[in-house]
Amino acid sequence: MYKPRNIIIGVIAFLALIFFPVWSSLFTTGEAVGAEISLDTPMINAMENPKCVEDTEWMRANHMKLLADWKVEVVRNGNRIYVAEDGQKYLASLQNTCFECHSNYDEFCLKCHEYNNVSPTCWTCHVEPTVVEEGNK
Ligand code: HEC
Ligand code: HEC
Ligand code: HEC
Repeated sequence: MYKPRNIIIGVIAFLALIFFPVWSSLFTTGEAVGAEISLDTPMINAMENPKCVEDTEWMRANHMKLLADWKVEVVRNGNRIYVAEDGQKYLASLQNTCFECHSNYDEFCLKCHEYNNVSPTCWTCHVEPTVVEEGNK
């Protein structure tokens, strides 16, 4: 015979496991970042429902892997289209995709990288967005 109590405990444990990403993120809001990063860019401000290519938590942990994958896809396989988890398609491009939204490199990428002591060596070849000064155009 099954004991109903054990079944209930089993169901609760199962649900806790399934929803782990949800409740674990509730307790870690912003903590992992540390640095004050800004999302204040024309492109992001214009979005009705601002979101990244993938889920924010995932991006925080995996954006470097995503970029490395994009590079391999583009350079080795000639594939420039990335299909996100939600089915949305993006051009696999640092310049035309990441920096289109995150055009405030200094206040976003750089700020967090300095805080975490990382310095990606991409900018000898790729162009990082810089603020165009008035009268300098
Ligand atoms: C030695 C030069 C060089 C360095 C350093 C370099 N790349 Fe690239 N990368 C290239 C070239 C060349 C391409 C091919 C460009 C194309 O076909 O559009 C490319 C393509 C890419 C692409 C896909 C296409 C695009 O326009 O974005 C991504 C993403 C990318 N690189 C990311 C990175 C990242 C992230 C770093 C730093 C960790 C990096 N690269 C460092 C030369 C470099
Ligand atoms: C369509 C606009 C858009 C594009 C394209 C985009 N992002 Fe984002 N990104 C956002 C928005 C909006 C957020 C914040 C979402 C939130 O607050 O939940 C974000 C969040 C992030 C975060 C997490 C920041 C944090 O809160 O810790 C990282 C890292 C990131 N983006 C990197 C990238 C990289 C790298 C690329 C290119 C591969 C990229 N983004 C492309 C709009 C974009
Ligand atoms: C919320 C903090 C945060 C933000 C915002 C962020 N990064 Fe990062 N990034 C990191 C951390 C931390 C690492 C190092 C991770 C590791 O070494 O495992 C990293 C590593 C990288 C690397 C790999 C570096 C290497 O040498 O291997 C690249 C490329 C990169 N980030 C690009 C970007 C770009 C482009 C943006 C802005 C569009 C951005 N990041 C925004 C935290 C951030």
